Amino acid sequence: MAGHIPVNGAKNAALKVLAASILFKDEIALENIPLIEDIKRMCELLGELGMEVKEKGRRSFTVRPGAKIATELPAELSQKFRASIVLAGPILSRYGTVTFFFPGGCLIGKRPVDFFIEGFEKMGARVRVSAHGDSVKYLIETKARRLMGTEIFLRAPSVTATETFILSGILASGETVIKNAAMEPEIVSLSNYLSACGAKIRGVGTPTIRIKGGPCLESRGLKYRTLPDRIEAGSFIILGALCARDLTVTDCNPLDLEALLSVLSHAGVNFKTGKDWVRIINKNGAKIPFKAFNIKTQGYPGFPTDLQALITLFLTQSRGDGAVFETIFESRLEYIKSLREMGAKIRVTENQAFIRGPTALRATNLESRDLRAGMAFILAAIIAKGTSLVHNVYNIDRGYEKVEERLAKVGVDIQRCVSS
Ligand code: EPU
Repeated sequence: MAGHIPVNGAKNAALKVLAASILFKDEIALENIPLIEDIKRMCELLGELGMEVKEKGRRSFTVRPGAKIATELPAELSQKFRASIVLAGPILSRYGTVTFFFPGGCLIGKRPVDFFIEGFEKMGARVRVSAHGDSVKYLIETKARRLMGTEIFLRAPSVTATETFILSGILASGETVIKNAAMEPEIVSLSNYLSACGAKIRGVGTPTIRIKGGPCLESRGLKYRTLPDRIEAGSFIILGALCARDLTVTDCNPLDLEALLSVLSHAGVNFKTGKDWVRIINKNGAKIPFKAFNIKTQGYPGFPTDLQALITLFLTQSRGDGAVFETIFESRLEYIKSLREMGAKIRVTENQAFIRGPTALRATNLESRDLRAGMAFILAAIIAKGTSLVHNVYNIDRGYEKVEERLAKVGVDIQRCVSS
């Protein structure tokens, strides 16, 4: 396998900037939006609420407020993906009320919404919770005309809760302070754009963020360009390390990937980086086992949970004993059962995996409940002997655009099978 593989815009930034469109007076223009299923669902959701979303050429979109905006998120659609919850803050702060449902997404743990509810209450909202079929419905209303700025301490640095309170603080009265905030580059990118459009946000990229409330935002003729998806880039870099002769991952930002690149360098992977590319060269076609290591997942700039399954797979091909400690989500090691069926030697104790490598993997049938584990299955299938079938590709399509076409271009033998 060899060649160049370009990285698309970041799912977890594009979804949030689409949600932020609710805070604008006028039309916003977005570029480098990945054409993935979660983005399609977010655009459908905005459309159902009364926003006008238009695709303007490849990967470019405009979003403008329609004449009337609904404040209840449609249940079925919003339950399809976690990021739907990021619409709650903007709708509540602009229109004084929002109804949403417990969000869906990858099955990787409990993924509660208590930070959101407690934060909205602290900002002066009233919350009513009721059962809705198998789900839970939340009706939130502001008591005063606007949400009130306040101090919110997040018990864990949650990404979507940090984004929610940045977005909620923009139209609130006074100052909102988020403590123990998440510091992911996608949050910095979103905030920089919103600041350029009139928001008053300080401290983003640090654990304390301050937002001064003001009027609705104006696009000022600016275009938002989505930053490269560091998780997609990381997935392709791990693929390159595992089995490429010479693979260059382009259109990425190596500075956002330091946690991954430092462990790969420690393991002995041979790569070079430039301003926006990473080139992995395996003179022997990656037949030399790498050195095993231990990692634990953390918020940025630590090792991302979204690359945890992929790095576990990498450790099955490394020499010695490695360990992976998942500290963010309670059930994000489910996929390991399938890697074991393929021949991997992995022992799991609660949220830790102990991997002994290297082991040759055998092809099998795979099915993932989580998008990142789905990508790990594709990579496992690539390095395994024989032909594997990966089912439930919708889960992979949620976050990776046309993965089979892009992998085929660099020499992977992969086909999408359409079931009848
Ligand atoms: N948490 C709570 N209560 C809350 C919110 C979060 O206890 O109200 C806990 C979570 O259970 C977890 C921790 O806080 O233990 C951190 O989770 P976080 O809230 O940061 O996760 P998220 O915002 O739901 C986003 C990404 C995930 C990514 C995580 C961690 C989006 C839409 N999703 O989720 O991305 O894994 O941050 O970086 O931004 C993916 O892209 O495949 C994906 C799952």
